[in-house]
Amino acid sequence: MRRLVAVFVMSVLTAALLASPSVASAIPGRALSGTGKEPVAVGTGGAVASMDLDASKAGITVLKHGGNAIDAAVATASTLGVTNPFVAGPGGGGFMVIYLAKSHQVVTIDGRETCPSACTPSMFIDPKTGQPLGYDYASDQPLATGVPSMVATWAKALRLYGRKSLAADLRPAIKVADRGFRVNADFRQLTESGLAELRAYPASRALLLTPAGNPLPVGYLLRNPDLARTYRLLGRHGPSYLYDGPLGRAIVHADDHPAVTPGNTLVTLPGIMTMSDLRAYTARVQAPTRVRYRGLDIYSMAPPSSSGSTVGEALNILSGWNLSAEPRATALFHYLEASRLAYADRDAYVGDPRYVAVPLHGLLSPAFAATRRCLVHQKALVSPVPPGDPFPPYQGCQSQPSPQAPTISAEGRHTNNIVTVDKWGNIVAYTNTINFFGGSGMTVPGYGFLLNNEMTDFDFAPPAPGVYDPNLPAGRKQPRSSMGPVIAFRDGTPVFSVGAAGGSTIITTILQIILNHVDFGMSLPAAVAAPRVSQTNSPTSLAEPAFYNSALRRQLTREFGEQFTEATGPILPLDHYPGDATALQILGHGRFEAIAEPVRLGGGSALVVNPSP
Ligand code: GLY
Repeated sequence: MRRLVAVFVMSVLTAALLASPSVASAIPGRALSGTGKEPVAVGTGGAVASMDLDASKAGITVLKHGGNAIDAAVATASTLGVTNPFVAGPGGGGFMVIYLAKSHQVVTIDGRETCPSACTPSMFIDPKTGQPLGYDYASDQPLATGVPSMVATWAKALRLYGRKSLAADLRPAIKVADRGFRVNADFRQLTESGLAELRAYPASRALLLTPAGNPLPVGYLLRNPDLARTYRLLGRHGPSYLYDGPLGRAIVHADDHPAVTPGNTLVTLPGIMTMSDLRAYTARVQAPTRVRYRGLDIYSMAPPSSSGSTVGEALNILSGWNLSAEPRATALFHYLEASRLAYADRDAYVGDPRYVAVPLHGLLSPAFAATRRCLVHQKALVSPVPPGDPFPPYQGCQSQPSPQAPTISAEGRHTNNIVTVDKWGNIVAYTNTINFFGGSGMTVPGYGFLLNNEMTDFDFAPPAPGVYDPNLPAGRKQPRSSMGPVIAFRDGTPVFSVGAAGGSTIITTILQIILNHVDFGMSLPAAVAAPRVSQTNSPTSLAEPAFYNSALRRQLTREFGEQFTEATGPILPLDHYPGDATALQILGHGRFEAIAEPVRLGGGSALVVNPSP
């Protein structure tokens, strides 16, 4: 599913970015011709940015009819489930960071999927060989499906903070599902890349392929009456229709007794989900993470997301250098090393906090960051670097390997981020996914949506026998995630929000956008558009072509010994593609700037209620 998309996406990106000598300044604000999508919109009354025009329009419709940012986020996310079924929809889960203007509070909703109660630490070990299953193979199995948590998240967010009902907020999505939408080149490419999985399930084939089992042609009007009906039923009966009702039973049956195409050889490991797993699911409100960076308060998601702790730790490390005064190569060297070290700690310590003791306080402590910063000198560290010791008294410069060996995590990288703001000043940043493009590839028969394969975000095995690993599967445990958008405040006033897709590169994308904007003085649209480079405690950093082919990259290699891999070409699957971002700038006096990707993944859609340049 991934290689073709990688080639397609990166060739679009490369062509667009390399066409301009000044990448960061040339891209913002330019719509991709013929898509109707605008990557930047400025105005009043509220704003929405997402990867899709119909989805952003759904959010704006709800805002125009008295809904708030929370309603708009649900409308946008549910519509993405129609138009971008490979990355969104009721079969998945996600994390919401919410700013409530009236109470001046940041809250988050953990809407991450859980592993069925029968999950065990060895569930992804091949009993025949005793070795971990192949990642791609496991990703195609119903066994990799966790309890879908998206609908519980929407319902919880609306019950606590929304102004409208679930039924009202699902209306725009129902309309798009009934009316249909035109298949575009991106959709076709995504379908092509997941053809084997989609062909394996008759229900996916019937919904997303031609009768001959080929991708739908560009321009085809794709209707999804099954999903329209599902949304109507959820609106009428509420989330219990899924968590304790007919939809839940259909999900459990589809997962545990998958209906596969005759002759299928791809799908061999059925799921282990039960109705009691669904009944036990709750989306939880929890406190955000917070760090100070250059006078800003940066809020994000706490575990089981690793975004808040890893972005936070890296920013704490970077606080010790004055990046804006450094030559750009030095500043980027510091960025890469801070990220490398923060990832080592993430992999060693972050998991589901209901199952493992996550030293969150230490990971977010400036004193702990100082013990990591002092490891950075003139040359790139050699990955995998060992984790530090995030427990007080945070002394010295931790250059000794800890008893825990690092793990290099493999994670699905296909996700989407939505940002919404309303006229009252409430903000929602919502990263959600069904995991890989197409999740497990399995459509719930009669209900029109794909199920996630999120359980592959667990580590399949500890890094070495007997070594502590916070992210091994267990019954009802949540796999560690990288999803977690941020909302940044200055002097108590929200100033911007950013979130991204891209699995573990979500964290580096967010970090880089913050640095581009805050330290390097780029406008937020330019910061989003700029070429990216991602260091996740791997021997080489993954660089988009425009960065890989730059003089800056060559300087980083020459002067600092940084090694890079170009994020394109036939040897790299899409898993290695840094994902698309969306962002929001609060301009003051009720004005907002909504920001989406100008080019990556075909560009996103930014809209405001009342445009005013
Ligand atoms: N499945 C991607 C993530 O949770 O980060």
